[in-house]
Amino acid sequence: VKGSYDNFMQKEIYEQPETTGNVMRGRIDVSTNRVILGGLEHWMFELRRARRIIMIACRASYHACLATRAIFEELIEIPIGVELASDFIDRNCCIFRDDVCIFVSQSGETSDTICALNYCLKKEAITVGVVNTTGSSISRFTHCGVHINAGPEKGATSTKCYTSQYIALVMIALCLSEDKVSQVERRKEIIQGLILIPKQIEEVFRLESTIIDLCDNELRDQESVLVLGRGFQFASALEGALKMKEISYVHSEGLLAGEPKHGVSDLVDEALSIIAFATKDSLFPKVVSSIERIIARKGNPIIICNKGDKIWEQKKLQKNFVTLEVPQTVNCLQGVLNIIPLQLISYWLAVKRGADLDSPIEPAKTSTAQ
Ligand code: UD1
Ligand code: NA
Repeated sequence: VKGSYDNFMQKEIYEQPETTGNVMRGRIDVSTNRVILGGLEHWMFELRRARRIIMIACRASYHACLATRAIFEELIEIPIGVELASDFIDRNCCIFRDDVCIFVSQSGETSDTICALNYCLKKEAITVGVVNTTGSSISRFTHCGVHINAGPEKGATSTKCYTSQYIALVMIALCLSEDKVSQVERRKEIIQGLILIPKQIEEVFRLESTIIDLCDNELRDQESVLVLGRGFQFASALEGALKMKEISYVHSEGLLAGEPKHGVSDLVDEALSIIAFATKDSLFPKVVSSIERIIARKGNPIIICNKGDKIWEQKKLQKNFVTLEVPQTVNCLQGVLNIIPLQLISYWLAVKRGADLDSPIEPAKTSTAQ
Protein backbone atom coordinates (compact mmCIF):
# COMPACT_ATOMS: atom_id res chain seq x y z
CA VAL A 1 0.00 0.00 0.00
CA LYS A 2 1.25 3.45 -0.89
CA GLY A 3 -0.60 4.98 2.07
CA SER A 4 -0.51 8.77 2.05
CA TYR A 5 2.22 8.88 -0.59
CA ASP A 6 1.68 9.54 -4.30
CA ASN A 7 3.63 6.50 -5.47
CA PHE A 8 5.98 3.80 -4.26
CA MET A 9 9.17 5.68 -4.96
CA GLN A 10 8.16 8.58 -2.75
CA LYS A 11 7.05 6.19 -0.01
CA GLU A 12 10.30 4.25 -0.16
CA ILE A 13 12.46 7.38 -0.02
CA TYR A 14 10.59 8.46 3.11
CA GLU A 15 10.85 5.01 4.70
CA GLN A 16 14.62 5.27 4.95
CA PRO A 17 14.87 6.42 8.58
CA GLU A 18 12.96 3.24 9.40
CA THR A 19 14.64 0.85 6.94
CA THR A 20 18.18 1.95 7.85
CA GLY A 21 17.16 1.23 11.45
CA ASN A 22 15.79 -2.19 10.45
CA VAL A 23 18.99 -3.39 8.81
CA MET A 24 20.86 -2.66 12.07
CA ARG A 25 18.16 -3.89 14.46
CA GLY A 26 19.44 -6.60 16.81
CA ARG A 27 22.78 -6.60 15.01
CA ILE A 28 24.68 -3.89 16.86
CA ASP A 29 25.68 -4.12 20.51
CA VAL A 30 26.41 -0.52 21.49
CA SER A 31 27.80 -1.39 24.92
CA THR A 32 30.57 -3.58 23.47
CA ASN A 33 30.85 -1.86 20.05
CA ARG A 34 30.24 -5.15 18.29
CA VAL A 35 28.34 -6.06 15.14
CA ILE A 36 26.67 -9.46 15.30
CA LEU A 37 25.39 -10.85 12.00
CA GLY A 38 23.48 -14.05 12.73
CA GLY A 39 23.67 -15.04 9.08
CA LEU A 40 27.50 -15.08 9.07
CA GLU A 41 28.09 -16.46 12.55
CA HIS A 42 28.86 -20.03 11.56
CA TRP A 43 31.12 -19.00 8.71
CA MET A 44 33.38 -16.53 10.49
CA PHE A 45 36.42 -18.80 10.46
CA GLU A 46 36.23 -19.37 6.68
CA LEU A 47 35.38 -15.74 5.96
CA ARG A 48 38.31 -14.37 7.96
CA ARG A 49 40.69 -16.73 6.19
CA ALA A 50 39.91 -15.17 2.79
CA ARG A 51 42.85 -14.06 0.65
CA ARG A 52 40.60 -11.84 -1.38
CA ILE A 53 36.98 -10.62 -1.35
CA ILE A 54 35.06 -9.97 -4.56
CA MET A 55 31.73 -8.16 -4.54
CA ILE A 56 29.50 -8.90 -7.52
CA ALA A 57 26.26 -7.10 -8.46
CA CYS A 58 24.33 -5.06 -11.05
CA ARG A 59 23.11 -1.46 -11.21
CA ALA A 60 22.36 0.23 -7.85
CA SER A 61 23.54 -2.85 -5.93
CA TYR A 62 26.85 -2.56 -7.77
CA HIS A 63 27.09 1.06 -6.61
CA ALA A 64 26.54 -0.06 -3.01
CA CYS A 65 29.57 -2.35 -3.45
CA LEU A 66 31.67 0.48 -4.91
CA ALA A 67 30.59 2.78 -2.07
CA THR A 68 31.88 0.37 0.58
CA ARG A 69 34.95 -1.04 -1.14
CA ALA A 70 37.35 1.41 0.53
CA ILE A 71 36.15 0.62 4.03
CA PHE A 72 36.59 -3.13 3.36
CA GLU A 73 40.13 -2.41 2.17
CA GLU A 74 40.89 -0.20 5.14
CA LEU A 75 39.49 -2.52 7.82
CA ILE A 76 40.29 -5.97 6.44
CA GLU A 77 43.55 -5.17 4.60
CA ILE A 78 43.21 -7.70 1.78
CA PRO A 79 42.48 -7.10 -1.93
CA ILE A 80 38.82 -6.24 -2.55
CA GLY A 81 37.37 -6.52 -6.04
CA VAL A 82 34.08 -5.08 -7.26
CA GLU A 83 32.55 -6.59 -10.39
CA LEU A 84 29.55 -5.90 -12.57
CA ALA A 85 27.95 -9.33 -12.79
CA SER A 86 27.57 -9.37 -16.57
CA ASP A 87 31.16 -8.33 -17.22
CA PHE A 88 32.39 -10.81 -14.62
CA ILE A 89 30.64 -13.64 -16.48
CA ASP A 90 31.90 -12.44 -19.88
CA ARG A 91 35.49 -12.58 -18.66
CA ASN A 92 35.44 -16.02 -17.02
CA CYS A 93 37.33 -14.55 -14.07
CA CYS A 94 39.88 -16.53 -12.07
CA ILE A 95 38.20 -17.58 -8.85
CA PHE A 96 39.91 -19.67 -6.17
CA ARG A 97 38.73 -21.76 -3.24
CA ASP A 98 40.03 -19.24 -0.72
CA ASP A 99 38.11 -16.37 -2.33
CA VAL A 100 35.04 -14.96 -0.63
CA CYS A 101 32.46 -13.76 -3.17
CA ILE A 102 29.68 -11.43 -2.00
CA PHE A 103 26.53 -11.20 -4.16
CA VAL A 104 24.35 -8.13 -3.66
CA SER A 105 20.81 -8.04 -5.03
CA GLN A 106 17.55 -6.51 -3.84
CA SER A 107 15.31 -9.24 -5.25
CA GLY A 108 17.81 -12.07 -4.94
CA GLU A 109 16.71 -13.02 -8.46
CA THR A 110 18.91 -10.80 -10.68
CA SER A 111 19.77 -13.17 -13.51
CA ASP A 112 23.35 -12.03 -14.20
CA THR A 113 24.16 -12.10 -10.49
CA ILE A 114 22.74 -15.63 -10.15
CA CYS A 115 24.81 -16.68 -13.13
CA ALA A 116 27.98 -15.29 -11.48
CA LEU A 117 27.00 -17.03 -8.23
CA ASN A 118 26.69 -20.40 -9.98
CA TYR A 119 30.10 -19.85 -11.55
CA CYS A 120 31.70 -19.11 -8.16
CA LEU A 121 29.98 -22.11 -6.56
CA LYS A 122 31.52 -24.34 -9.24
CA LYS A 123 34.93 -22.86 -8.42
CA GLU A 124 34.26 -23.77 -4.76
CA ALA A 125 34.62 -20.21 -3.46
CA ILE A 126 32.79 -19.21 -0.28
CA THR A 127 29.66 -17.33 -1.30
CA VAL A 128 27.84 -14.68 0.72
CA GLY A 129 24.52 -13.05 -0.17
CA VAL A 130 23.29 -9.56 0.72
CA VAL A 131 19.65 -9.65 -0.34
CA ASN A 132 16.33 -8.15 0.60
CA THR A 133 14.07 -11.05 -0.29
CA THR A 134 14.17 -14.09 1.99
CA GLY A 135 13.74 -17.41 0.21
CA SER A 136 15.04 -15.92 -3.07
CA SER A 137 17.50 -17.83 -5.27
CA ILE A 138 20.56 -15.88 -4.12
CA SER A 139 19.54 -16.20 -0.47
CA ARG A 140 19.15 -19.97 -0.86
CA PHE A 141 22.15 -20.79 -3.03
CA THR A 142 24.77 -18.76 -1.14
CA HIS A 143 26.56 -20.48 1.76
CA CYS A 144 25.59 -17.71 4.12
CA GLY A 145 24.52 -14.08 4.06
CA VAL A 146 22.66 -11.11 5.44
CA HIS A 147 19.03 -10.16 4.78
CA ILE A 148 18.69 -6.38 4.68
CA ASN A 149 15.08 -6.48 5.97
CA ALA A 150 13.97 -3.35 4.07
CA GLY A 151 10.51 -4.68 3.18
CA PRO A 152 9.29 -4.96 -0.43
CA GLU A 153 10.74 -2.38 -2.81
CA LYS A 154 8.24 -1.64 -5.56
CA GLY A 155 9.34 1.78 -6.76
CA ALA A 156 10.69 2.28 -10.24
CA THR A 157 14.26 2.50 -8.97
CA SER A 158 16.19 1.40 -5.91
CA THR A 159 16.18 3.87 -3.03
CA LYS A 160 15.74 2.33 0.41
CA CYS A 161 17.48 -0.87 -0.67
CA TYR A 162 20.57 1.05 -1.78
CA THR A 163 21.01 2.64 1.65
CA SER A 164 20.32 -0.64 3.44
CA GLN A 165 22.71 -2.63 1.23
CA TYR A 166 25.32 0.02 1.92
CA ILE A 167 24.86 -0.32 5.69
CA ALA A 168 24.78 -4.14 5.54
CA LEU A 169 28.08 -4.15 3.65
CA VAL A 170 29.69 -1.79 6.18
CA MET A 171 28.47 -4.09 8.95
CA ILE A 172 30.04 -7.10 7.18
CA ALA A 173 33.37 -5.25 6.98
CA LEU A 174 33.09 -4.43 10.71
CA CYS A 175 32.33 -8.05 11.52
CA LEU A 176 35.20 -9.47 9.47
CA SER A 177 37.71 -7.04 11.00
CA GLU A 178 36.72 -7.67 14.60
CA ASP A 179 39.93 -9.59 15.30
CA LYS A 180 42.09 -6.62 14.21
CA VAL A 181 43.40 -4.85 17.31
CA SER A 182 44.72 -1.95 15.23
CA GLN A 183 41.18 -1.12 14.08
CA VAL A 184 39.45 -0.94 17.47
CA GLU A 185 39.08 2.85 17.54
CA ARG A 186 38.10 3.15 13.90
CA ARG A 187 35.48 0.40 14.26
CA LYS A 188 34.07 2.12 17.34
CA GLU A 189 33.80 5.42 15.47
CA ILE A 190 31.92 3.76 12.59
CA ILE A 191 29.54 1.89 14.90
CA GLN A 192 28.73 5.12 16.75
CA GLY A 193 28.18 6.78 13.37
CA LEU A 194 25.83 4.04 12.16
CA ILE A 195 23.52 4.49 15.11
CA LEU A 196 22.92 8.16 14.25
CA ILE A 197 22.14 7.55 10.57
CA PRO A 198 18.32 7.12 10.80
CA LYS A 199 17.92 10.48 12.61
CA GLN A 200 20.32 12.21 10.23
CA ILE A 201 18.32 10.99 7.21
CA GLU A 202 15.28 12.73 8.70
CA GLU A 203 17.30 15.94 8.80
CA VAL A 204 18.16 15.58 5.10
CA PHE A 205 14.44 15.50 4.25
CA ARG A 206 14.28 19.17 5.33
CA LEU A 207 15.99 20.00 2.03
CA GLU A 208 12.91 18.98 0.10
CA SER A 209 11.42 22.46 -0.44
CA THR A 210 14.76 23.76 -1.79
CA ILE A 211 14.96 20.70 -4.04
CA ILE A 212 11.42 21.16 -5.37
CA ASP A 213 12.35 24.74 -6.17
CA LEU A 214 15.50 23.58 -8.03
CA CYS A 215 13.43 21.13 -10.05
CA ASP A 216 10.95 23.89 -10.91
CA ASN A 217 13.70 26.21 -12.09
CA GLU A 218 17.41 25.43 -12.65
CA LEU A 219 16.95 21.76 -13.46
CA ARG A 220 13.56 21.69 -15.10
CA ASP A 221 14.52 21.84 -18.78
CA GLN A 222 18.03 20.45 -18.56
CA GLU A 223 18.96 17.90 -21.18
CA SER A 224 22.04 16.71 -19.37
CA VAL A 225 23.28 16.67 -15.80
CA LEU A 226 26.80 15.78 -14.70
CA VAL A 227 27.24 14.40 -11.20
CA LEU A 228 30.74 14.71 -9.71
CA GLY A 229 32.24 12.92 -6.74
CA ARG A 230 35.57 11.58 -5.59
CA GLY A 231 36.81 8.97 -3.11
CA PHE A 232 33.88 7.73 -1.04
CA GLN A 233 31.59 9.95 -3.13
CA PHE A 234 32.49 8.53 -6.54
CA ALA A 235 29.87 5.80 -5.96
CA SER A 236 27.35 8.49 -4.94
CA ALA A 237 28.01 10.25 -8.26
CA LEU A 238 27.38 7.06 -10.24
CA GLU A 239 24.30 6.16 -8.21
CA GLY A 240 22.95 9.73 -8.41
CA ALA A 241 23.35 9.72 -12.19
CA LEU A 242 21.62 6.33 -12.38
CA LYS A 243 18.62 7.76 -10.48
CA MET A 244 18.40 10.67 -12.93
CA LYS A 245 18.51 8.33 -15.92
CA GLU A 246 16.07 5.77 -14.56
CA ILE A 247 13.48 8.13 -13.15
CA SER A 248 13.75 11.60 -14.60
CA TYR A 249 14.77 10.54 -18.13
CA VAL A 250 17.52 13.13 -18.13
CA HIS A 251 20.83 12.23 -19.65
CA SER A 252 23.23 12.01 -16.76
CA GLU A 253 26.79 10.90 -16.12
CA GLY A 254 28.54 10.24 -12.85
CA LEU A 255 32.16 11.36 -13.05
CA LEU A 256 35.21 11.23 -10.85
CA ALA A 257 35.69 14.85 -9.76
CA GLY A 258 39.03 16.21 -10.88
CA GLU A 259 39.91 13.19 -12.99
CA PRO A 260 38.94 14.01 -16.60
CA LYS A 261 40.04 17.61 -16.06
CA HIS A 262 40.06 18.67 -19.66
CA GLY A 263 37.18 16.55 -20.87
CA VAL A 264 34.71 17.87 -18.34
CA SER A 265 35.81 21.47 -18.17
CA ASP A 266 35.49 21.69 -21.95
CA LEU A 267 31.81 20.88 -21.55
CA VAL A 268 31.19 23.38 -18.78
CA ASP A 269 29.17 26.49 -19.53
CA GLU A 270 26.31 28.36 -17.90
CA ALA A 271 23.71 26.01 -19.33
CA LEU A 272 25.12 22.63 -18.31
CA SER A 273 23.90 21.38 -14.95
CA ILE A 274 26.48 20.03 -12.56
CA ILE A 275 25.82 18.47 -9.20
CA ALA A 276 28.95 18.02 -7.07
CA PHE A 277 29.46 16.10 -3.84
CA ALA A 278 31.71 18.18 -1.61
CA THR A 279 31.24 16.85 1.90
CA LYS A 280 34.25 16.95 4.23
CA ASP A 281 36.80 14.17 4.00
CA SER A 282 40.50 13.84 3.15
CA LEU A 283 39.82 14.61 -0.53
CA PHE A 284 37.87 17.79 0.20
CA PRO A 285 40.62 20.22 -0.97
CA LYS A 286 40.86 18.44 -4.32
CA VAL A 287 37.09 18.49 -4.77
CA VAL A 288 37.01 22.20 -3.91
CA SER A 289 39.60 22.99 -6.57
CA SER A 290 37.61 21.02 -9.19
CA ILE A 291 34.56 23.07 -8.27
CA GLU A 292 36.58 26.31 -8.44
CA ARG A 293 37.54 25.41 -12.00
CA ILE A 294 33.90 24.83 -12.88
CA ILE A 295 32.91 28.19 -11.41
CA ALA A 296 35.77 29.92 -13.25
CA ARG A 297 34.35 28.53 -16.49
CA LYS A 298 30.98 30.09 -15.63
CA GLY A 299 29.52 26.74 -14.63
CA ASN A 300 26.57 26.65 -12.33
CA PRO A 301 27.11 23.86 -9.82
CA ILE A 302 24.66 22.56 -7.23
CA ILE A 303 26.82 21.57 -4.28
CA ILE A 304 26.06 18.93 -1.71
CA CYS A 305 28.10 19.89 1.34
CA ASN A 306 28.13 19.56 5.10
CA LYS A 307 26.07 21.79 7.37
CA GLY A 308 27.81 24.94 8.49
CA ASP A 309 30.70 24.65 6.06
CA LYS A 310 31.75 28.31 5.69
CA ILE A 311 33.88 27.96 2.57
CA TRP A 312 30.88 28.15 0.22
CA GLU A 313 29.68 31.49 1.58
CA GLN A 314 32.92 33.13 0.37
CA LYS A 315 32.69 31.47 -3.03
CA LYS A 316 29.11 32.62 -3.41
CA LEU A 317 30.37 36.23 -3.32
CA GLN A 318 32.12 35.46 -6.59
CA LYS A 319 29.17 33.70 -8.19
CA ASN A 320 25.88 32.58 -6.72
CA PHE A 321 25.05 28.88 -6.70
CA VAL A 322 22.90 26.50 -4.71
CA THR A 323 24.21 24.47 -1.77
CA LEU A 324 22.33 21.55 -0.24
CA GLU A 325 23.62 21.00 3.29
CA VAL A 326 23.58 17.53 4.83
CA PRO A 327 24.68 16.51 8.33
CA GLN A 328 28.22 15.21 8.70
CA THR A 329 28.96 11.59 9.60
CA VAL A 330 31.99 9.29 9.49
CA ASN A 331 33.62 9.50 6.02
CA CYS A 332 32.72 5.92 5.04
CA LEU A 333 29.03 6.47 5.92
CA GLN A 334 28.63 9.93 4.37
CA GLY A 335 27.38 8.39 1.11
CA VAL A 336 24.26 7.07 2.87
CA LEU A 337 23.22 10.66 3.65
CA ASN A 338 24.55 12.20 0.42
CA ILE A 339 22.46 10.02 -1.89
CA ILE A 340 19.16 11.20 -0.34
CA PRO A 341 19.19 14.67 -2.03
CA LEU A 342 19.87 12.94 -5.37
CA GLN A 343 16.96 10.55 -4.80
CA LEU A 344 14.75 13.56 -4.07
CA ILE A 345 16.03 15.54 -7.06
CA SER A 346 15.44 12.66 -9.47
CA TYR A 347 12.02 12.08 -7.93
CA TRP A 348 10.87 15.71 -8.14
CA LEU A 349 12.35 16.23 -11.56
CA ALA A 350 10.36 13.23 -12.76
CA VAL A 351 7.19 14.64 -11.20
CA LYS A 352 7.76 18.08 -12.77
CA ARG A 353 8.39 16.53 -16.14
CA GLY A 354 5.23 14.47 -15.90
CA ALA A 355 6.78 10.99 -15.76
CA ASP A 356 4.52 8.17 -14.63
CA LEU A 357 6.43 7.02 -11.57
CA ASP A 358 4.53 3.83 -10.94
CA SER A 359 5.15 2.46 -14.41
CA PRO A 360 8.42 3.76 -15.86
CA ILE A 361 9.02 3.35 -19.58
CA GLU A 362 11.73 0.80 -18.95
CA PRO A 363 10.47 -2.29 -17.10
CA ALA A 364 13.76 -2.21 -15.25
CA LYS A 365 12.74 -3.97 -12.10
CA THR A 366 11.09 -7.00 -13.64
CA SER A 367 13.45 -8.02 -16.42
CA THR A 368 16.73 -7.36 -14.70
CA ALA A 369 15.55 -7.13 -11.13
CA GLN A 370 18.23 -5.82 -8.82
C1 UD1 B 1 17.34 -14.57 11.66
C2 UD1 B 1 15.90 -14.62 11.14
C3 UD1 B 1 15.12 -13.48 11.73
C4 UD1 B 1 15.19 -13.57 13.28
C5 UD1 B 1 16.65 -13.63 13.73
C6 UD1 B 1 16.66 -13.90 15.21
C7 UD1 B 1 15.20 -15.36 8.89
C8 UD1 B 1 15.20 -15.12 7.43
N1 UD1 B 1 15.86 -14.49 9.70
O1 UD1 B 1 17.93 -13.32 11.25
O2 UD1 B 1 13.76 -13.56 11.31
O3 UD1 B 1 14.57 -12.44 13.84
O4 UD1 B 1 17.34 -14.67 13.06
O5 UD1 B 1 17.90 -14.27 15.67
O6 UD1 B 1 14.62 -16.32 9.35
N2 UD1 B 1 21.38 -16.23 4.16
C9 UD1 B 1 22.02 -16.73 3.04
N3 UD1 B 1 22.16 -15.91 1.97
C10 UD1 B 1 21.69 -14.65 1.94
C11 UD1 B 1 21.03 -14.13 3.07
C12 UD1 B 1 20.90 -14.95 4.18
O7 UD1 B 1 22.44 -17.88 3.01
O8 UD1 B 1 21.84 -13.97 0.92
C13 UD1 B 1 21.19 -17.12 5.32
C14 UD1 B 1 22.03 -16.74 6.53
O9 UD1 B 1 23.30 -17.29 6.47
C15 UD1 B 1 21.19 -17.29 7.66
C16 UD1 B 1 19.75 -17.14 7.15
O10 UD1 B 1 19.85 -17.02 5.73
O11 UD1 B 1 21.46 -18.66 7.84
C17 UD1 B 1 19.04 -15.94 7.73
O12 UD1 B 1 19.80 -14.76 7.48
P1 UD1 B 1 19.45 -13.38 8.23
O13 UD1 B 1 17.97 -13.17 8.12
O14 UD1 B 1 20.33 -12.32 7.75
O15 UD1 B 1 19.85 -13.83 9.70
P2 UD1 B 1 19.51 -13.15 11.10
O16 UD1 B 1 19.77 -11.70 11.09
O17 UD1 B 1 20.21 -13.99 12.13
NA1 NA C 1 21.90 -19.69 1.77
